[in-house]
Amino acid sequence: MENLLAPIKAFLKCDTPDEWVTEAVKKENLAVLLTDHLICELKAAQSAMFLIRRYAVDADSAKALLDWLKPYEDFAYRQIGDWRELEKLKLDKSMLVKSGSRYGQDLVDKMVMLIREELHHFYQVLEMMHKYDIEYDKIESSRYAKGLLRHVKTHEPDALIDKLICGAYIEARSCERFAKIAPFLDKPLGDFYISLLRSEARHYQDYLTLAEEIAGHDISARIVFFAQVEADLIRQPDSDFKFHSGTPAN
Ligand SMILES: [Fe+2]
Ligand SMILES: [Fe+2]
Repeated sequence: MENLLAPIKAFLKCDTPDEWVTEAVKKENLAVLLTDHLICELKAAQSAMFLIRRYAVDADSAKALLDWLKPYEDFAYRQIGDWRELEKLKLDKSMLVKSGSRYGQDLVDKMVMLIREELHHFYQVLEMMHKYDIEYDKIESSRYAKGLLRHVKTHEPDALIDKLICGAYIEARSCERFAKIAPFLDKPLGDFYISLLRSEARHYQDYLTLAEEIAGHDISARIVFFAQVEADLIRQPDSDFKFHSGTPAN
């Protein structure tokens, strides 16, 4: 586990504050922690899907991707459907890359695998919620992802590169938080969080590698910029406790 975490901790500019951990392990916060985590898994799948629909695949493939996601969104946003059915859903079409896309295939390969994993995590979080008798209820998202994405440039290819760097930070922070709280949680939940570390660690690397490949030049200054924005969101006081919230404000 330490081997997985060392590069993540080096990538992130700060550790999760202990005050956040104190809040996260409180029994009364379990429903918020799991529900917000659940929605983070869906958002991770949605944003990866957005990237390949926007940048890499043809129109038929884009439609197949949306159809794949729809039952998850129906469940999360419209409370339609039985969550147990979600595990059976598959993407049954192979993706066709837009012609002339230099990085399209690599983006599609990495992101389709990532989406599969995030949707599986979504299902696994629902299993955990079921186990702890937590009924799903809609939740407002935290300031975190918005706070990162508001700095994304508006012109291409810089916009794509920035979105990929933000993706890397969100994945890396999730990983760091899973590892940080796992020892203090009820064993089945702690074990589940540790089991998520491996795939999320690869996701952060995939985002970063894609950003570097697509840029084709040194993006370290941009990474440093987002590292600072991310660390500020984690360190600054935040009165809204969530999976990615800042230092709990009294
Ligand atoms: Fe995930
Ligand atoms: Fe992930």
